[in-house]
Amino acid sequence: MKRIARLALVSCCALFATHAITAQVADEKWPAEGHHPVPSIQDKETPAEKDARMKWFREARFGMFIHWGIYSVPAGRWQGKEVPGLGEWIMNSGSIPVADYKAFAPQFNPTQFDAHAIVALAKAAGMKYIVITAKHHDGFAMYDSKADPFNIMSGTPFKRDPLHELAVEAHKQGIKFGFYYSQYQDWTAPGGAAYKTGDHKPPTYHWDPAQDGDFSHYLHTKAIPQMKELLTNYGESPDIIWFDTPYESGYQSNDHPNPKDVHGMTPQWASEIVSLLNTRPKLIWNNRLGGGYNGDTETPEQYIPANGYPGRDWESCMTINDTWGYKVDDKNFKSTETLLRNLIDIASKGGNYLLNIGPESTGVVPPEEVARLEQMGKWMDVNGESIYATKPTLFGSEAGAFSTTEKDKQGKPKFVPEWKWRSTTKADKVYIHLFEWPSTHTFHVAKMPRTVTGAYLLADTSHKPLKFTQKGGALDVQLPDAALDPIATVLVLKTR
Ligand code: GLC
Repeated sequence: MKRIARLALVSCCALFATHAITAQVADEKWPAEGHHPVPSIQDKETPAEKDARMKWFREARFGMFIHWGIYSVPAGRWQGKEVPGLGEWIMNSGSIPVADYKAFAPQFNPTQFDAHAIVALAKAAGMKYIVITAKHHDGFAMYDSKADPFNIMSGTPFKRDPLHELAVEAHKQGIKFGFYYSQYQDWTAPGGAAYKTGDHKPPTYHWDPAQDGDFSHYLHTKAIPQMKELLTNYGESPDIIWFDTPYESGYQSNDHPNPKDVHGMTPQWASEIVSLLNTRPKLIWNNRLGGGYNGDTETPEQYIPANGYPGRDWESCMTINDTWGYKVDDKNFKSTETLLRNLIDIASKGGNYLLNIGPESTGVVPPEEVARLEQMGKWMDVNGESIYATKPTLFGSEAGAFSTTEKDKQGKPKFVPEWKWRSTTKADKVYIHLFEWPSTHTFHVAKMPRTVTGAYLLADTSHKPLKFTQKGGALDVQLPDAALDPIATVLVLKTR
């Protein structure tokens, strides 16, 4: 009886298109955490169980995001011109008709894809986990899906399952592995949602009649069956499911403001996915499912929150250049210095850095990306202990301050970062990441909250003790004349 009532509600929402749904969304408060239609892992577990489940993620601090799909074939260009914006959004930003977009699949033959090399690259960079796009908003599945034929196995000459190959390698090389899945947007499946772009019209924001259909039908015939495949066909994997763009609670993006006439993921729809997620009790999933579920992680996108998210696990996801999916015209690569300082900044605030690579349609990882990851890995080889399994800074003001005069885009006081140093913490150590070498050759803090018993530089293999004084709470450590690493030299303070 109950089930029939729920199904009726779902299909009525879908049938009456957006007006009925808008009213529902506007008047309705999503159920409070813990009172979902289907309780999630997070609703039911004890704090100790949560700590155990999140342990590896909290210690990892650094992961690899991979955006890879048939958008790497056009690689950001359509009809001879660059389409502005993100590479994986080309179908939407360029209003490419479904049939034209689907025609990229037979051209996709990434024979140079090498799962071993990609996992080895992540490991060399010091990354502890990988999350790859199993299906992005374009609807193309990068794995062997029986649920829908628009996939790499049945739709391309490649006929291999890169997700399977990566899962095997990840397991072999001892690294966690997860799937990104676009549960809400799907631009090639009839009924799949689309975010507003350019002159695309409400209520669906579709640009091709082939996209029109019933969302509930899409969800039940494609998204849910595919989620089932991803949760059951990959052995120990996935460790993570990374949802995206639900238009609802917890997820907000400046790039995709939420028009009021779009239904988003309802609690009922989301709860059907949650029933599947609950079959894997160790799974970690993010805050972008929608329907009032907060998941495990906050997911700041392309920025580092000023003070982290005290009390919540979080992960800043960022691009290496300006796109997630490969774009031949985007050479705006961040420097290794910026990338490393982002990692250190994030660790000092208690979060993880999910740094993206966007392989080409051949399977090759752009050499600029490889080079940066390898350089990061060299630094991590020496200094990794100051990042992994650390706790946030004991200080705080070194990260910068909110401006009293300048405002950000939302009109709130703007956070102005400072880039002199950062700090992370362990039970018996405090790490100081020095970006700027003090001209006095002395590291000084006015208030050191612990008693220091020794000091040395992590990059000095002999760990030669440095002289220091601690008086009335102030700490001064005498440093050598020059930095040992131009990007960040780590000062270790042994403490009690
Ligand atoms: C955005 C984009 C998407 C990308 C994601 C990564 O929401 O829609 O293309 O995959 O961010 O965080």
